[in-house]
Amino acid sequence: MAKAKTVYSCTECGGQSPKWQGQCPHCGAWNMLVESVATPERTRFVSVAGAKSAVRALGSVDAKDKPRFPTGIEEFDRVLGGGMVPGGVILLGGDPGIGKSTLLLQAMAALGAAKKALYVTGEESAEQIALRAQRLGLVNAPVALLAEVQLEAIAATIEAEAPEVVVIDSIQTMYTEALTSAPGSVSQVRECAAQLTRLAKQRGIVVVFVGHVTKEGAIAGPRVLEHIVDTVLYFEGDTHSSFRLVRAIKNRFGAANELGVFAMTERGLRGVTNPSALFLSQHDAEVAGSAIVATVEGSRPLLVEVQALVDPVAGGMPRRVSVGLDPQRLALLLAVLHRHGGVETGGYDVFVNAVGGVRIGEPAADLAVLLAVYSSLKNNALPAKSLVFGEVGLAGEIRPVQRGQERIREAAKLGFRSILIPAANKPRQPIDGIEIVSVARVADALAFIKK
Ligand code: TYD
Ligand code: MG
Repeated sequence: MAKAKTVYSCTECGGQSPKWQGQCPHCGAWNMLVESVATPERTRFVSVAGAKSAVRALGSVDAKDKPRFPTGIEEFDRVLGGGMVPGGVILLGGDPGIGKSTLLLQAMAALGAAKKALYVTGEESAEQIALRAQRLGLVNAPVALLAEVQLEAIAATIEAEAPEVVVIDSIQTMYTEALTSAPGSVSQVRECAAQLTRLAKQRGIVVVFVGHVTKEGAIAGPRVLEHIVDTVLYFEGDTHSSFRLVRAIKNRFGAANELGVFAMTERGLRGVTNPSALFLSQHDAEVAGSAIVATVEGSRPLLVEVQALVDPVAGGMPRRVSVGLDPQRLALLLAVLHRHGGVETGGYDVFVNAVGGVRIGEPAADLAVLLAVYSSLKNNALPAKSLVFGEVGLAGEIRPVQRGQERIREAAKLGFRSILIPAANKPRQPIDGIEIVSVARVADALAFIKK
């Protein structure tokens, strides 16, 4: 048998090169070329959906807002922006074993009564899915199951069965006959996703792709996948803890950065409707190196403990490690702490961590990181039952953050007694039960820690 011709395609842009190279000649990305089977050019863009679209005047397009339908799983609906939108394509990514299949099976079962749902599994057998359904207590759920990995067969089933919601678990296991490359390869993933998206738009059905992630945490396969779909959701959180967060990275039908919070239980994922106090660890007394921040994730305030450990360098380069917080931001904050707070950390290793596997992207956490680091360095705790938020600027100023009032109220509600905030966020009236300390400069903020 003749050896199949291979090419090297870029996992970033999908561009192909005949030889392996360090840098992709198409998009310039480094170390992204992977070997794949060459695909005959002429067969590459065959549409399984068939029909062609005509040009229309913008005014003639029926822009009636297709009503979105809730899945019935409240926290999932929250990240989706209120529910699924007919014709919408959703990508759900996350580490293996984090609960993607569980969540979607639960959502399909909840939907099944009102909408015709089809669950296509390429990863597990129908028996395995049934076993999971049993565990979830959903054996009699009205969900159609299809164990299939070939795109053409799936498209045909969709044509025949006319489901309203289709789950593809996972997009990396699917392949189309039109291409010779292996399932999971860049071209296969891109082509299958594009074809199914076209089908979703034409027929007005919701398609949910499950996407694998690489060890760097990005969706495996072509980057274009995230551009094709309408909504990108990521599962985050620590697989060792029982809490799971689903975050909307992109959403054409709702707010990005919205967060759904779940707990993984014996019987699947259960929504946590009041998660604000979830990410606080319990300390009997105040400890140095811990600061609690009120962040706003999506539409809700969330209180998260930021921990820091500052330890003299044992030898070699000082280390800066951050978990759940942006490492670049940490470096920046240490520089600000030095320049505007007069606190030198050059001779120390600095570790920071957001408790509970949450990822905080918001600059409102700056002040908490800064104070946790300073607190650990001085071995002095922040005041008992205190909370901080605020963005730190390069000039050493403490900048206001949005929705300050809401954060303060949440803190007061949860029994915090003092709060350190940017001067510009200071409420006009005092808020019952909580002492408000407002600061404008880094140097003033450091005084919040007991001497
Ligand atoms: P799964 O949905 O299979 O993950 P993914 O599709 O993202 O790879 O989740 C599997 C994990 O969830 C597995 O480690 C077992 C756990 N689990 C529970 O704790 N309770 C349950 O009811 C179910 C179904 C799974
Ligand atoms: Mg799975």
